[in-house]
Amino acid sequence: MTDRPTPDYSTSMRTSRCGDLRADDIGATVTLCGWVDRVREHGEHLVFVDLRDRSGMVQVVVDGGHELRSEFVLQVTGEVRARPEDTANESLATGMVEVEASEVAILSRSEPSPFPMDERTDVDEVLRLRHRYVDLRRSRMQRNLEVRATVNSAIRGAMEEQGFIEVETPMLVASTPEGARDFVVPSRKVPGSFYALPQSPQLFKQLCMVGGVDRYYQIARCLRDEDLRADRQYEFMQLDAEASFVGQEDVLAFISHAVSAAAEEVTGERPADIPRMTWLEAQERYGSDKPDTRFGLELVELTEVFAGTEFRAFQAPCVKGIRVPGGSDTSRNRLDDLTEQCKRWGAKGLVWMKVEADGLNSPVAKFLSDDEQAALRAAMAAEAGDLLFLVADERRQVRHVLGLLRLELGRPPVTEGGLNFLWVVDFPLFEGLDEAGNPIPAHHPFTMPHEEDLELLESGDLLAVRSQAYDLVLNGWELGSGSVRIHRAEVQQTIFTLLGIGPEEAQAKFGFLLDAFRYGAPPHAGFAFGMDRLIAVLAGEENIREVIAFPKTQSGADPLTGAPTEVDGRHLEELGLRVLPPKQ
Ligand code: AMO
Ligand code: AMP
Repeated sequence: MTDRPTPDYSTSMRTSRCGDLRADDIGATVTLCGWVDRVREHGEHLVFVDLRDRSGMVQVVVDGGHELRSEFVLQVTGEVRARPEDTANESLATGMVEVEASEVAILSRSEPSPFPMDERTDVDEVLRLRHRYVDLRRSRMQRNLEVRATVNSAIRGAMEEQGFIEVETPMLVASTPEGARDFVVPSRKVPGSFYALPQSPQLFKQLCMVGGVDRYYQIARCLRDEDLRADRQYEFMQLDAEASFVGQEDVLAFISHAVSAAAEEVTGERPADIPRMTWLEAQERYGSDKPDTRFGLELVELTEVFAGTEFRAFQAPCVKGIRVPGGSDTSRNRLDDLTEQCKRWGAKGLVWMKVEADGLNSPVAKFLSDDEQAALRAAMAAEAGDLLFLVADERRQVRHVLGLLRLELGRPPVTEGGLNFLWVVDFPLFEGLDEAGNPIPAHHPFTMPHEEDLELLESGDLLAVRSQAYDLVLNGWELGSGSVRIHRAEVQQTIFTLLGIGPEEAQAKFGFLLDAFRYGAPPHAGFAFGMDRLIAVLAGEENIREVIAFPKTQSGADPLTGAPTEVDGRHLEELGLRVLPPKQ
């Protein structure tokens, strides 16, 4: 992290922090407070104690006669002295020194820790979360919380530098349109009525724009009742921003500045300017709208190569392939597994080919003409020793399957490959059609179509309509989304109609926003990104739970507090609620 003036950590109870002691301190008398990490007894009269606090650890030499155990809380006064040369510990920042204790006070005792405190042991997650207060003492968690605080503060600074002001929006709201299930809170005053917890501040930030707050931001808590995954929690934090009298370019610049400032603050290095890619290019080259550009294995277009093929499987609207350099020693078992995997992702099959000096080694090579084989090798720049994978199908399906296969084959761990931020622009307005034939919005229904594509809305080629929506991607994680908003009532009405939202439903759900738009709505645009995701990547963690102080487990429970819990009958009655017996 970049240098800042060190705060004065001395208090009425301690003069220094354990992890801060250095050779400079030799000769000083210090008072430390902290937890006992480890006790090593050297004979009856000499005990080495590793004392730990937020800053790190230092070795304390204590005479025998104290009953000291791991995780006891001590206050130790003593002199800092150099460690004898051969006992210095280079892997510890304080490894050159130790503290010779003259006074030791036990401030608090501890039962044996529920799990080993070292970083090497893999501890069951439920056990960790059940005793999160102990888990948080571990250096990994201390560091992650520090990264988190650094990112929060850097983002606040960067937004404020750009003239944004933080406005808090309510937690008890009417439903918001982000597409997940709402968490609801029953109203006591109006039994049978519920508040929703906000899935995002979307509508309120747009109302702020009508309210003349021309640059709004908030580090906002959002709640969504959706299945939890490594990058998803029920509650999470967004950097949420909105500005008036701006277009897409302005928003990209604001947000680029904020995430770059955060990355720089954590890594000490300013990331390069963030490159851009259109949604279509991302899909064609990476089979994803959130391409992980840390590695190659790009999708190669092969439809032309097999335009006249006799091989039935390749007589499809689209054929694409992936070349794995030097992959030809992949075992048959692994190839079979990958084929099954692709079928689970919806492929009709997966063709693999091992490239050899004198031809292609593949169960389907015999179905391909010499010309096709040569054209394939050329298109894929294939060399002996490579492995090729091919999929044929509808274009969307091919991209989808190969996009997932690419990740399976090459995705590096979060700690490798640097920080690859990427703007994905020109999203389609609609991502498909639902069963009733209504288009499904790719973002939310307030997203402005591309001006040039407004005509297509009338003519009916809906899936070709581009929107002024953009995503920010980091190492293959969708970090955030945003758009230029519709601020003209007639365009909004057209979109609602296309989405199958009738005037009454629109009025009922979003009437207050539509009303507001009748009172002078400025053109506006905005963005939100997941703070937890940004922090996880910056901290080198694969799961956002590791950067949240008190997260939920994969099943949505909190093993520490027991949430969710039942509430007592009186309380339910007051709320006018009755609980049905569990479904069988
Ligand atoms: P969106 O729904 O894309 O956009 O959310 C923005 C970002 O929030 C993060 N995120 C999550 N993080 C952790 N757990 C979750 N369950 C979760 N869900 C979302 C992601 C995501 O990219 N109001 C719009 C933004 C706008 O248009 O301004 C919105 O919320 O990183
Ligand atoms: P089949 O003709 O269905 O026996 O398939 C012959 C080979 O082609 C098998 O290895 C299949 O996995 C593969 N295959 C079939 N359909 C496709 C497809 N659409 N895309 C890629 N490979 C396919």
